[in-house]
Amino acid sequence: MTIRVAGIGTALPEKIVTNDELAKTIDTNDQWIRDRSGIGQRHVGGVTSELATEAGIRAIKNAGLTPDDIGLLIVCTTTPDQQLPATSAVVQRDIGLTCGAFDINAVCAGFIYSYVMAYGQMLMPGGPERVLVIGSESLSRIVDWTDRGTAILFGDGAGAAVMERHEQGEMLAYDLGSNGELQEILYADHGGYIKMEGREVFKRAVRAVSGSVEIALKKAGMTADDIDVVIPHQANIRIIEAVSQRTGLSMEKTHNVIEFTGNTSSATIPLTLAEAERNGALQPGQIVLMTGFGAGMAWGTAVVRW
Ligand code: ACO
Repeated sequence: MTIRVAGIGTALPEKIVTNDELAKTIDTNDQWIRDRSGIGQRHVGGVTSELATEAGIRAIKNAGLTPDDIGLLIVCTTTPDQQLPATSAVVQRDIGLTCGAFDINAVCAGFIYSYVMAYGQMLMPGGPERVLVIGSESLSRIVDWTDRGTAILFGDGAGAAVMERHEQGEMLAYDLGSNGELQEILYADHGGYIKMEGREVFKRAVRAVSGSVEIALKKAGMTADDIDVVIPHQANIRIIEAVSQRTGLSMEKTHNVIEFTGNTSSATIPLTLAEAERNGALQPGQIVLMTGFGAGMAWGTAVVRW
């Protein structure tokens, strides 16, 4: 039995904040932000569950399905609506699902963790036929808009994928990793803002993602040349370029949305998948590598046959 992505959906708040607008309130400028991160603008606004619901409904529709077809919901987020219940409970209600639902928080690696968990659930005896996986964030709530070290990076948004049992598509290998020793370089306390040692996160991210990509490729019995489509977490274009240099993954085959969305944490990978789909890059049989990293630090890579 194999599993494919049957539909993808996205949601971005209407409000766009450009780099020039940020430069009116903090000591920065468009050129610096573009050169150092690749970001040109970010969407700001909305509530995590509302963005997730919008993206989820679109993914179900894109798959040609109805809410009754979904057997499990996983919402990955690091900005839940409430301490309890899980944001997935609200999303389950608002989409009109009747299945089980739970949240995963692996920060920016959340979508990879959720994808792997969904895959495993579907392989279990009596497991669901279809799982809706949604990455959704309202990071603007936990960004200190006076801190130029973080305010330039983050945005809000959601992306969703319906996974279903199908003869087409399969996961070939995955790697999940974490190093809690690095908790202090990127964190937000309850009720507080994101605190980040940017340079340290940058260095660690390049190392962690490159290592994870190499492990996943080795497990899949493949090399970087075998990959047709690269979908990296969108944190900084220079991190993506550095990983490409280290691992041999082609930048030409790498899809990015960071210029238009900034870093939307667990939503970046499904948002980038949606972009790749719009460009016609996701064809049956293509080998797709998705990789993410974030606070924790936590990271993960999945190699799938589309
Ligand atoms: N605008 C203008 N100048 C700035 C800004 C800014 N927004 N921020 C810093 N600078 C200045 C600094 O003061 C410094 O000046 P100096 O040389 O006179 O001291 C200079 O620019 C360089 O600063 P660095 O901090 O070294 O800049 P760097 O190239 O590292 O870029 C950045 C900073 C973009 C934050 C980068 O470190 C980065 O992207 N780090 C990784 C962040 C990341 O990926 N976070 C998300 C993880 S995913 C998750 O879990 C949420």
